[in-house]
Amino acid sequence: MRVLGITAVLCLLAAAVSADPVRVRQPKADDEELAWWQTSVIYQIYPRSFKDSNGDGVGDLRGIINQLEYLQQLGVGAVWLSPIYQSPMVDLGYDISNYFEIDPVFGTMDDFNEFRDKAHSLGLQVMMDYVVSYTSDQIEWFQKSLRREDGYDEWYVWAVGERNESAPHGYNVPSNWLSLFRGSAWEWSEERQQFYLHSFTVNQPDLNYRDDGVVLQMKDVLRFWLDKKVDGFRVDAVSQMYEAEGFPDELPSGLTNDTEANNYLQHVQTQNRPETYEMIKQWRAILDEYQAADGKAKAMMLEVYDDPEIVMPYYGTPEEPGAQFPFNFYFISQLNAQSNASDVNRAVHLWMDNMPEGNWPNWVLGNHDQPRVGTRLGVARKDLFNMISLLLPGTAITFMGEEIGMENTHVSWEDTVDPWALNAGPDLYESVTRDPERTPFQWNTSANAGFTDEGVKPWLPVNENYLQGINVESELEADLSHIKVYRKLVDARGWRVAQRGALDTAIISEWVFAFTRTLDGEPTVVVVGNLGTDVETVDLSATFDGLPDQLTVHAASISSSTQSGATVSPQSVTLEAGVGLVLVANSTSAA
Ligand code: GLC
Repeated sequence: MRVLGITAVLCLLAAAVSADPVRVRQPKADDEELAWWQTSVIYQIYPRSFKDSNGDGVGDLRGIINQLEYLQQLGVGAVWLSPIYQSPMVDLGYDISNYFEIDPVFGTMDDFNEFRDKAHSLGLQVMMDYVVSYTSDQIEWFQKSLRREDGYDEWYVWAVGERNESAPHGYNVPSNWLSLFRGSAWEWSEERQQFYLHSFTVNQPDLNYRDDGVVLQMKDVLRFWLDKKVDGFRVDAVSQMYEAEGFPDELPSGLTNDTEANNYLQHVQTQNRPETYEMIKQWRAILDEYQAADGKAKAMMLEVYDDPEIVMPYYGTPEEPGAQFPFNFYFISQLNAQSNASDVNRAVHLWMDNMPEGNWPNWVLGNHDQPRVGTRLGVARKDLFNMISLLLPGTAITFMGEEIGMENTHVSWEDTVDPWALNAGPDLYESVTRDPERTPFQWNTSANAGFTDEGVKPWLPVNENYLQGINVESELEADLSHIKVYRKLVDARGWRVAQRGALDTAIISEWVFAFTRTLDGEPTVVVVGNLGTDVETVDLSATFDGLPDQLTVHAASISSSTQSGATVSPQSVTLEAGVGLVLVANSTSAA
């Protein structure tokens, strides 16, 4: 396996900047069959914010059931639901108090069954959030561990540091480890007279995977949902599963002087430990067992934000496979609203050049933890980034609302509910809050954007831009809209060349990035985008060999002066600021 450090990759790519396209490997041999998780767009639903059916201001399963046709018409192939399990909702469902029950705010197990059956009947696969690193402190397991009940004693990470009469509890904390949500990762328990580890909120104690009972229990969770015929999982906070034995201190990272902030430390002892890769392989074996039994592909995608040398081994090896894919977060961690063509090119290659041979790429453009694409990468570039992420080789993951170009919403301190933001306090909350990207989905122009009934206060405020055309109904009626662009992109993903074609990328100018997808016997597809703020006219045939004299526009950003159906000469393609075009060569001479 070829794995380079980020610095090495950056140097190599900086050297490679030229008008010559850079080819990366073919995604899949032509004759291999592709599974649903490879060809589909996977659409993330944050259930609290999708559709409220009972007028309590919070989205629910019935709301999702009623809107499944929307997803089918959008053309996505799978739905990943953020957690809907029983939860005190300290972390909005990522703190689970019962893995085998649905929280009443979302509905009942009957509702879930109906959701799953209807999704399947519409050809949509169902993926659940598998929250593995911690539970709610209200779960029976933690309560038993707190009481040191037989068998549960070591289910969580309990410890004390050295005896210290002057320390508040008579002991030092076991280590200097920090919570991702600020402050010490250790919380004192009066009942046990020990500290417990919590990587996130104090109400989310970390499970101890060094206890066999925990390993068995979490496998039972997996089996329970597989028995319920779900098709796959998004595995949450994988990096935090294990920590080094003996709780060695972590060293300062040098990134910040804020000693309470999580990035004050380098997380060598607490993240992506070798045992974690092993556990993923064991879970993969369970998925494969179910796949062998019913003949339907199962998939696991992992939440891991890190450098390639940490992330890529989660694919496992041919002998011992790991996840179908760890999420590719490089469009999130490597890009911002100022990114130019070489930045985008670098982010693409960071994945493609480091992915071990024989695996399948993926492109995550956003999620419930990250600012929305328009806000993060630029309002004018919304369609362009959808084009790039949906037409690169591999699986595309769309966070609900990106297809209509939703933007972050300002949420006041008074309305703030994200525990990370609450922990940060009124002065700092805006630097970490995730509420702005979690606001209700915008369906139409009626009150509350059609998310909930008129007169009901939604759990987070609705973005006012639903009245300026950012909503499903208005966009479906408009001649040009984000959703119409998105649907064209989903259609294009059905083409053989999009699923199996080779990828060549090119930096055409400082601001213009382009790539082609080519496959023998199939029309070549060119995606070209102007990331800058000035109009540019480029000659694509100077970069890509064998393009025909005319290219047909399959999809264009809504602000483009050239729209779908038009033909352009590859020698002179004009792109307004932020505009992307998907061009198709009807002749196959480029192959
Ligand atoms: C995961 C979730 C995030 C949550 C965190 C802690 O990273 O994506 O939303 O806050 O886990 O529970």
